[in-house]
Amino acid sequence: MMSFTAREDDTGNLYDQRYDQEEYYWGLKPSSNCSRVLEILPPSGGSRLLDVGCGEGRDAVFFACKGYSVTAFDSSPVGVEKALRLAERANVSLEVFVADIIEYRLDSCFDVVFSTGVLQYIPPDLRPEILGNYRAFTNPDGVNALSVFVSKPFISRAPDAEAKAFEWRSGELLSYYHDWRIEYTSEEIFDCMSSGVPHRHAISRVIARKVAG
Ligand SMILES: C[S@@+](CC[C@H](N)C(=O)[O-])C[C@H]1O[C@@H](n2cnc3c(N)ncnc32)[C@H](O)[C@@H]1O
Repeated sequence: MMSFTAREDDTGNLYDQRYDQEEYYWGLKPSSNCSRVLEILPPSGGSRLLDVGCGEGRDAVFFACKGYSVTAFDSSPVGVEKALRLAERANVSLEVFVADIIEYRLDSCFDVVFSTGVLQYIPPDLRPEILGNYRAFTNPDGVNALSVFVSKPFISRAPDAEAKAFEWRSGELLSYYHDWRIEYTSEEIFDCMSSGVPHRHAISRVIARKVAG
């Protein structure tokens, strides 16, 4: 996998650079929460799924192939273009567009709001409003399946940490879903070689269901 050292204020640019190659930077294997979503809320009758920060589309295309009606967005135009190409290759349709997670708000309901490795781009003061929007525009019995990087006092900040990325507090994501049914949650620490310097990250995953009435 290629890696770059991030400079201040260059997140969008950074991902355009990473994605500007034939190869898929994150690979084509769907991320780990995808199979859990499939198990917890299998698609039925055109279930609508939103992939927030879809990158080059590996997860969005996986879900479209499984029968969800998929909408996806990312701030990287190069990523969005590659997601479209991947969907074409898989012979599925995808509604995909360029948008900034900080600005974009849902105005129609989804059965699944999904995101992996992206919510660190929401500054802490905007989290209640944005997560509130995702919750409000989730259909009854629908799920939010989200993963976030969390800070731990015993894990040093990554050498290539981006200035505009804000780690979450451990347990913080779960607290947004205190009144939903928690279908799955985990926190794990993994080794990473981005930037060529070995380091670790902690990631928290939550799949929560909006239980009706
Ligand atoms: C770690 S990658 C994850 C991509 C994808 N979810 C995956 O797992 O393959 C983070 C993604 O967040 C996107 N991103 C960064 N800042 C963003 C923002 N402000 N709004 C929307 N997407 C953003 C990047 O372009 C990148 O595709």
